[in-house]
Amino acid sequence: MRSTDGPLTKLTGVPTDDDARATATTHRGPEVSVPTAVVGMVGGGQLARMTQQAAIGLGIELQVLTAHDWDPAVLAGARFVPGDPDDLDALLALAKGSDVVTFDHEHVPNAHLRALVDAGHVVRPGPAAKLLAQDKSVARRVLGDAGITIPAFVDAAPGDVAAAARFGEANGWPIVVKAPMGGYDGRGVHVVASPAELEDRPDLHTYDRWLLEAHVDIAVELAVLVARRPNGESVTYPVVETVQRDGICRELVMPARIPDDVATRAEELAATIAERIGATGILAVELFLTRGGDLVVNELAARPHNSGHATIEGTTTSQFENHLRSVLDWPLGAPTLLAPAAATVNLLGPAEPVDLTRTVQHALEDPTVHLHLYAKAYAPGRKLGHVTVLADDPEAALGAARAAAEALLLP
Ligand SMILES: Nc1ncnc2c1ncn2[C@@H]1O[C@H](COP(=O)(O)OP(=O)(O)OP(=O)(O)O)[C@@H](O)[C@H]1O
Ligand SMILES: [Mg+2]
Repeated sequence: MRSTDGPLTKLTGVPTDDDARATATTHRGPEVSVPTAVVGMVGGGQLARMTQQAAIGLGIELQVLTAHDWDPAVLAGARFVPGDPDDLDALLALAKGSDVVTFDHEHVPNAHLRALVDAGHVVRPGPAAKLLAQDKSVARRVLGDAGITIPAFVDAAPGDVAAAARFGEANGWPIVVKAPMGGYDGRGVHVVASPAELEDRPDLHTYDRWLLEAHVDIAVELAVLVARRPNGESVTYPVVETVQRDGICRELVMPARIPDDVATRAEELAATIAERIGATGILAVELFLTRGGDLVVNELAARPHNSGHATIEGTTTSQFENHLRSVLDWPLGAPTLLAPAAATVNLLGPAEPVDLTRTVQHALEDPTVHLHLYAKAYAPGRKLGHVTVLADDPEAALGAARAAAEALLLP
């Protein structure tokens, strides 16, 4: 996969003008070893930051395409490739110095990914699989055609309230109105009770398209992570229970508190989807378990995922490490749980500013607490970090993680 001159150029420390990777490594002295691989990641947020932590042990050099040299992954030691994910030249610069290009988010024009592949670069996941994580409407169609259970849906032109009224008549109110692309943390997802309410939401009328969905009667939200290599080999992590408030994931419990047969079905479903769409790297499958006991696929994420933070301490191999191993087509690590239960609480910036330099020690008073701070400045609602605790039962893990989060976020 790697070009033959890359490591040699590095060893001699003599860069050539046209070898971006060699140029990128001139800071190294002659005693420094060659990286085992160079991975280019589009995005430098907390997911890239935790990928960098995993890269260190594997001897991988991670370089991240991101806007600022103070972004979370750069502060953790990933090489900074400045640029915007919409900029094809910046993506090409990242790709040129990397054995494989991968992602910490979904916001890259799919046509640019195809251009990278056409230029001979290795992109994992590839553009076709990535598109299903980028466009909720395409994902609905592809998964629906494959016979996978999804909410009833229809595509509509933005502002077509008549279409929404017909859809609501047929499927019941409320309905869910979504922006098919570009949303995250519940932005671009709206539960709408009536056509009149939709008329009153000018913000929704600015979307490029509407995806209208039946409102699912959710008993519990779940996520299943699969790490899949290009050769088809894959491992599936235990099902995670996710708790969202205001569309943002707040808490995670692994394994989910659901019957074993439901967990097995969810894991098989996620592995089937990864196989069918040819995913590589981590694929996160977000699922709704309905009150009727059905598993309904919500959305896909083709990258490390917020729902998998507990895999860092809670499983033999973290999702971040297995993401790197799978996009490099290396042998995968076991996804085995290391404790009866693990819980993660996300640290969202509270309304009042917090001084973590003061509160961090309070959060660490419980010796079982694992703290991950993302090096982001405080802002209300911003994901500043997370806390994970492993314990003998989910309630104990969740209780301890909540207590640590509360101590940390005390004004
Ligand atoms: N059809 C639906 N019926 C009921 N609730 C829904 C439906 N679609 C979405 N939701 C709720 O809205 C939340 C956010 O939706 P979704 O995951 O599609 O959006 P997102 O903003 O892309 O999320 P993420 O932060 O995971 O990227 C879901 O976790 C779920 O709680
Ligand atoms: Mg979601």
